Amino acid sequence: MAGGLEGVVAAQTSLSWIDGRRGMLVYRGYAIDDLARHATFEEVVHLLLEGSLPDEAQLEATRSRLADQAPLPDAVVEGLRLLPKATTPMSALRTGVSLLGSDAPTFDAQDLDESRAAAYRIIATIPTIIGAFHRLRSGKEPVAPDPEATTAHNLLRGLQGGEPDGESVAAMDCALVLHAEHTLNASTFAARITAATMSDIYSAVVSAIGTLRGPLHGGANEKVAEFLESIASVDDVEAVVDAKLARKERIMGFGHRVYKTEDPRGPHLRRWARRVAERAGREELYEKALRVQEVVKDRKGLYINVDFFSAPLYTAMGIPRDVFTPLFAASRAAGWTAHVLEQQANNRLIRPTSEYLGERHQEWVPLEQR
Ligand code: COA
Repeated sequence: MAGGLEGVVAAQTSLSWIDGRRGMLVYRGYAIDDLARHATFEEVVHLLLEGSLPDEAQLEATRSRLADQAPLPDAVVEGLRLLPKATTPMSALRTGVSLLGSDAPTFDAQDLDESRAAAYRIIATIPTIIGAFHRLRSGKEPVAPDPEATTAHNLLRGLQGGEPDGESVAAMDCALVLHAEHTLNASTFAARITAATMSDIYSAVVSAIGTLRGPLHGGANEKVAEFLESIASVDDVEAVVDAKLARKERIMGFGHRVYKTEDPRGPHLRRWARRVAERAGREELYEKALRVQEVVKDRKGLYINVDFFSAPLYTAMGIPRDVFTPLFAASRAAGWTAHVLEQQANNRLIRPTSEYLGERHQEWVPLEQR
């Protein structure tokens, strides 16, 4: 049974590659460990969209291009203002990107240069949409992005309304690098399917955001935080995990379709989670997460995925739980848009087939006789 398309090659890409048995991930040939330790998000954006690591001038051009495009058009701010305050940030983000696409009326969806320019615009504005909606729902006015700052800095500034500290910016930058691209995951596939109908890049990213939000995909990080906070202390972890497994419930942040060993992004997020939690006086949260990791591995042989340690990291940074999945989107926008450009450059409609399980020959029954 081909349910879930497991193992099916549905696209060709030069953007990233995973070896799930060895726990390897590369973006255009560069190991995720090197990128996590040395690259900034802007370097990764250039790598994914332009095909190579930038030199110093190109890196500064990418940073300023993103910062210059980060302010939102009035139509987007006013649209966000109209949303009910109880709307989830993920719905607001989906709406915000849709509004951004409506604010480009002369956009030629099939012109590759215009799509590339729109890709930068989308990557630049998603962090601003996240911050603007969070502040509006809290009864505060959005703050304008700093044209001299990086994406990670402006993302935190937009949420907090003030200047973030250097360590939080470094942690966020690393999280953005780690989530940027991951082969044909569900949301990226959704983006490529949309692009393959010769639709536009904004619509493709809206499809991707809707797909990312589910708890089997990017929505898992919010569920991890909920779970960790529901456990009173490190000593309770074992009993809580066992009870959950006995009820046949999934433990979010564990397991992966592709990795059969530890997700290579996990250790970097674990390292940052420990640093930030210690500094914030939230050691207990980190210790609980470590113990959950141990117990689930012991009971089920399951490894953590990218969503596990991002949850205590963002919690320790003081970021509201329902903003975690939008942060994933802020980063993955780089991968989504790079895949859309790749699809557009060599397009063929993506249209698989299905196995029919229904009746084949039924007698027509007139309405009055049913
Ligand atoms: N907790 C408990 N059991 C899990 C599990 C988890 N997080 N992930 C997988 N399993 C178990 C399943 O129950 C199943 O067991 P069974 O064969 O006895 O029924 C087996 O492992 C295979 O799971 P399956 O759902 O078929 O794997 P998949 O490749 O379709 O799913 C995920 C991959 C990611 C959807 C799955 O691991 C999951 O639901 N994880 C939790 C959500 C999550 O963290 N998502 C973020 C992914 S980056």
